[in-house]
Amino acid sequence: MVISTIILSDSEEKVLTNYLEQQEEFKLLAQTDDSDKIYDALNELSKALLFVNLDYMEEDFHFISSLTDRYKDLRIIAFTKTPSVDLMIKTLRAGASALLSLPFLRSEFDAAIEKVKNELLHNKKEKSKCRIITVFSNKGGIGKTSIASNLALELAKITKEDVALVDLNFQLGDVTTFWDLKPTFDLTYMVNNLDKLNKDFLLNTLERYKNTSLHILADPPYFKGADNISSSQILGLFEALKSAFSYVVIDTSAGFDDKTMTAVKNSDLTLLVTVANLPALRNSQRCLELFASQVKNKDNIQVVVNRYMENDEITSEDIEKLLGQSIFEKVPNNYFTMMSAINKGMPVSDINKDSNVAKAYKQLALRVSDFVYRLK
Ligand SMILES: Nc1ncnc2c1ncn2[C@@H]1O[C@H](COP(=O)(O)OP(=O)(O)O)[C@@H](O)[C@H]1O
Ligand SMILES: [Mg+2]
Repeated sequence: MVISTIILSDSEEKVLTNYLEQQEEFKLLAQTDDSDKIYDALNELSKALLFVNLDYMEEDFHFISSLTDRYKDLRIIAFTKTPSVDLMIKTLRAGASALLSLPFLRSEFDAAIEKVKNELLHNKKEKSKCRIITVFSNKGGIGKTSIASNLALELAKITKEDVALVDLNFQLGDVTTFWDLKPTFDLTYMVNNLDKLNKDFLLNTLERYKNTSLHILADPPYFKGADNISSSQILGLFEALKSAFSYVVIDTSAGFDDKTMTAVKNSDLTLLVTVANLPALRNSQRCLELFASQVKNKDNIQVVVNRYMENDEITSEDIEKLLGQSIFEKVPNNYFTMMSAINKGMPVSDINKDSNVAKAYKQLALRVSDFVYRLK
């Protein structure tokens, strides 16, 4: 089985052609500067690889995403003279497999080709490094579960990678209520049987939300739950999840119990949720102080303001001044949409994707994936 390869560029790509000739699994069919021709060619092909000169295509990410959406067995490798983290994020998000910098580096080329071969010939999709995101607040009723749930779903939709939403709120089963789920599988069992967990088991057993790549881990509501889950069990759970998922979003109970603090300390990003009133903000201020002494990098604690209102007495600037850091994202107040989401047990984007809250959760997910992408 060979992978038909096309190069889309306005200049002669000698190095690329030369590298490709050394790959027996790839057959270079054509080089063209006419992007319209690509569609015709792809209609005829099964497994295909397209190299795109991103500078010539003027960073047309829509072109990339429309192709990768339409042709499941197509992989795209883009290249550019002006690589940057920003460009990389946008290119990968559009669905490309890699972004190479010019002049071509053999090692970069080989790594990208290997990835394409694994996916198209061996059906092995490489998972990106797992990132753990904890949603925290030291008060209840502030919007943690709403944020964790909607964020997890939007991350799954944007990245199309496997995302796990984990409810560390063992006793109350918040997440199950939110999603109107009756999980057949319980999280308490999992932390007590860590040795049995592996990637296949996790990906196949966990409840999926519709046909998305979001998997939900929570205890059934009637489940009594475990009172004494240790920090080392939480760490074990994280390790197992890391092997299977690209993102793990953790919903926590309010307060600083051991489980929660273990999650915060071992997360790549913690979202501290607050609202624009003085008592909540003072609480958040204390949280930030406490976290600063507990976590390795305090930049990994970011503030999300929930139920935000434009004309609030307390402005964004006031909040930023009080907390001594900028606001990561704001989620507007929208009682009606949030209420109907809860009542129907559905995420906000399924209730009304054009609502201000749905847009804010999507924006939050974009920021989160950008943020963790930039982490070392
Ligand atoms: N942006 C928002 N606008 C209006 N109501 C909200 C918003 N976010 C959350 N709520 C409501 O606040 C209540 C508590 O939210 P929840 O996510 O369960 O908080 P927590 O998990 O922190 O206890 C819920 O009734 C929810 O519908
Ligand atoms: Mg909650």
